[in-house]
Amino acid sequence: MNKKKGFFLTFEGPEASGKSSQIKLLEKFLKNQKIPYHITREPGGTHLAESLRSLILRKNSNINIEEEILMLMAARSHHINQVIKPAIKKGKIVISDRFADSTFVYQGYVNKYGIKNTIKLHKDLLNNFLPKKTFLFKLSTNNILTRLKKRKSKNKYDKLDKKFHDDVNKGYKIISNHKRFINIDASKPINYIHNKIIYHLNLLI
Ligand code: TMP
Repeated sequence: MNKKKGFFLTFEGPEASGKSSQIKLLEKFLKNQKIPYHITREPGGTHLAESLRSLILRKNSNINIEEEILMLMAARSHHINQVIKPAIKKGKIVISDRFADSTFVYQGYVNKYGIKNTIKLHKDLLNNFLPKKTFLFKLSTNNILTRLKKRKSKNKYDKLDKKFHDDVNKGYKIISNHKRFINIDASKPINYIHNKIIYHLNLLI
């Protein structure tokens, strides 16, 4: 196994789909195997980007969609240049809990900036920097709502209605017709999903 080859992976999907728990399990695995890694998240990943995260996800903020997208792009640019690219260069597997696909779905589709317009901005401003593979967690809206009921609200998207979660699912369906995406049935047991992720990881390293 070549442990020196760095690359970038992302985890995407709707609210409460279990991405973050799976990233924790993956981190344990990488640590045990002594495979160099860096775990990060979006919006966030740098001090500046984490500050923007709290502004973007704040409830009752009065920023409009253009302002929100520009803040996300600024945060992402900083994250890519300061953290992701340097870590890949050092031979690490970089894993981000959400990345550009979330912007294509949440701002582009759900909040109607337009998927094509959002992808164009990503190309123009961020040189179309994308992960090697994306684990896309899929969960029905009913399951999302059941899981969210048991959770304390974390951000402005957590407590939205059925239509919002339906739209998020539709958005992911539209953008994910590409071999970069590995579909994960998020209703399956935690260990089953973990093993599937490790299987795909082993194909990459
Ligand atoms: P999470 O970290 O708990 O998944 O929450 C992040 C929230 O931010 C989630 O509801 C999706 C949203 N988001 C966007 O709207 N656009 C983006 O570009 C990103 C990365 C996240």
